Order: sequence, then structure tokens, then C-alpha cells
Amino acid sequence: MSARTSKAVFLKSYPNGLPTADDFEIREIDAPSPGPGEMLCRTVWMSVDPYMRGRMRPDVKSYIPPFSLDAPLEGGAVSEVIESNIPDFAPGDYVVDFAGGWKEYYVTKGERTQKAMPNLAPLPAWLGVLGMPGMTAWAGVTQIMDPKEGETLFVSGAAGAVGSVVCQLGKLRGARVVASAGSAEKIRWLTEEAGVDVALNYKDYKNAAELTRALSEAAPKGVDCYFENVGGMHLEAALNCIAPGARIALCGMISMYNNTEPEPGPPNLVNLIGRGVMARGFIVSEYADKAMEFASEVAPLVAAGKIKFQQTEYDGLDEAPGAFIGLFHGDNAGKAVIRVGPDKT
Ligand SMILES: NC(=O)c1ccc[n+]([C@@H]2O[C@H](COP(=O)([O-])OP(=O)(O)OC[C@H]3O[C@@H](n4cnc5c(N)ncnc54)[C@H](OP(=O)(O)O)[C@@H]3O)[C@@H](O)[C@H]2O)c1
Repeated sequence: MSARTSKAVFLKSYPNGLPTADDFEIREIDAPSPGPGEMLCRTVWMSVDPYMRGRMRPDVKSYIPPFSLDAPLEGGAVSEVIESNIPDFAPGDYVVDFAGGWKEYYVTKGERTQKAMPNLAPLPAWLGVLGMPGMTAWAGVTQIMDPKEGETLFVSGAAGAVGSVVCQLGKLRGARVVASAGSAEKIRWLTEEAGVDVALNYKDYKNAAELTRALSEAAPKGVDCYFENVGGMHLEAALNCIAPGARIALCGMISMYNNTEPEPGPPNLVNLIGRGVMARGFIVSEYADKAMEFASEVAPLVAAGKIKFQQTEYDGLDEAPGAFIGLFHGDNAGKAVIRVGPDKT
């Protein structure tokens, strides 16, 4: 047994509706020891992501299995290699792991582990703009919507980790970008920093009809591309304004993740037919073979300041449940990250 202990966050109960702090429990466990072909990593930064809510529903079949109540939670992390029995990784390396987070120490075989390069970008950026959310944004823009110069791109959840990158990739392709987010400060960042053409605070609109009116003013020629992060009234408004031949990237529907009853679909799906719209759902892992293409396009843009990013930092594993719950209240601007251990870079 290892002498080292590791703080870890467990799910105590599967949430019913919006998760609460009582659904989580922090425990002290023995840190694992690496066997042959394994390495021990110390989590430095970890990510909280909306998709994790889907893994808290044991009764729903999904593309990824539900969390167990008997093991620490898993999530994206940037970590320091402490001991390694894997030739490609050495102590002192910084790595990005899909399942490393929510615990101080973990062991991995390194099969899905990538190196983070602190000389290129600060460690948390490897969980955001240069990590899974950035790749998700890039995949939706380049592989699904392909916005053209002069077209109108509408982005919901626009000030978050994924949406903020979608907006800026859209601008770089010459699109008119209309963004939607939920606070005055997020609207300011989107217009003044991310450079979108119009930003709508969706909380100013009571229903889909009101949001439709605002969107049709912001997108007078119609919406040629819609990047869907939210669902509900955003999808309905987007479909009301959708242009002939439009492309929709269905990335997420966060407004529905805590529903306890099924929500009726938008009443205007029929617009997809007459307007010849292509709507494509996707999970970022589908595009894993394009990771190098993503990195070679986006990393230089980030380094040159042409893609800006925000992050909301929390301190310590104890704050992770609250940070996760905060995603559903809009507490984060850009990527929500937790500092789990000292960042020596
Ligand atoms: N398909 C994939 O592979 C993939 C990968 C990553 C993420 N996603 C999805 O992409 C979306 C964005 O993820 P992210 O990591 O970038 O999260 P994020 O946008 O950084 O954080 C979530 C944001 O969603 C907004 N939100 C929460 N509840 C809402 C509601 N009821 N109505 C409207 N907005 C709400 C909040 O911003 P406001 O202040 O604006 O309300 C909050 O800050 C999520 O739906 C996620 O599940 C999908």
C-alpha cells in the first residue's frame, strides 16, 4: 500500500434535478502506485464540464458510462508526472488526461494521455481553448457548419469555453457573428474582446418569441449557421430565423441537463425541411484523428492573440462541486478550472 494519500471527490448520490453540494463527498484515499507500463500523476488543474451531468444519470444510456458511486469522479486534468514506467513519459512532464481530475493523484497507462506544453500556453489553457472545448468548437465550425465570408453565424452559450472559441473562429472566417449569453459582463467581453457583431443577453427575453424578434433584428438576412450549446428557446428562435441551406452544429443543450421531466421539442422543426437545413449532432471524440489539424490552426491564433480566452479559477478540490454546479447558473466566464495542486510552471 502506498504511504501517500490522495484527496478525492466522490458522488454520494445521483442528483435529482440541479445537483447540490450534498450529492458530493470529499474523501481521503490511498494514492495508487504505478505498476509496469503505468505512471503516477499529480493533478495540477482540473476541469468541470457540463457533459459530466449526463454521467450522473445511471438510468440513461449514453455514449459514455455513468459515474460509479464507489470510485472517485473523473474529468479532464493537467497533471505532473511523478513516477513513470512508460518510456514516452518522464517525471516532470505535464500531461493532459481525460479521466485524471477530481483527485490529487492517479495512475494511468497513458493510452489517452497527451503532453501539455507550458512554454506554449499556461497549463489551464490545455483544458480550455487548446483542449477539449477548443477542439469541440473547431470541429463544429470546420467540419460541420463551414461558415463562409458574409454569412451569419449564431452561437448560444457564447461566452463559455466552447462558445467563445466558436465566435472567434467564425469572425476569422469572415462571418457576421451573433452571440447569446447570460450576463452584462459576458455581453461586454463578447463585443469588446471577442469582436462579435451583436451580443444578446438572453435573460432580457422571456420566451422564444421575444428572442426570435431580437435575433431576426440581429440577423436580418437569416441565420446561415447555428452552433447549439443550450437548446430550449434558443433552438426555437434559431429555427425561426434559419436561412435556406443553413447548417446547424448540435453540440449541447445545457438548458435541459437538469430536467426531471422530458421537455417537448421545438414546435418549428418543420422549418428544417422547407429550408433545406442540415442539422448534425456530434461528440468531439468523433474527430480525434483531426487533433493535429486543430492544434496547428488554433495554437498559433492563440499565441498571436487572435483568439482570446477567459477562465474562471477555483482553488482546491473542495471547491470542485460548487464550481460544477455553478456551470448551470452561469457562474463561469470562459473555461471553469480548479487549481488542485501547486502549479510550478
Ligand atoms: N458535443 C461535444 O462533444 C461537447 C463537448 C464539450 C461541450 N459540449 C457542450 O457544449 C456546451 C457548452 O459547454 P462548455 O464546456 O463551453 O460550458 P460553458 O459554456 O463554459 O459553461 C456553461 C454555460 O452555459 C450557460 N448556461 C447554463 N445553464 C443555462 C441555461 N439554462 N440556459 C442558457 N445558458 C445556460 C451558462 O452561461 P450563461 O451565463 O450564458 O447562461 C454557463 O456559463 C454544453 O452544452 C456542453 O454540454 C459538448
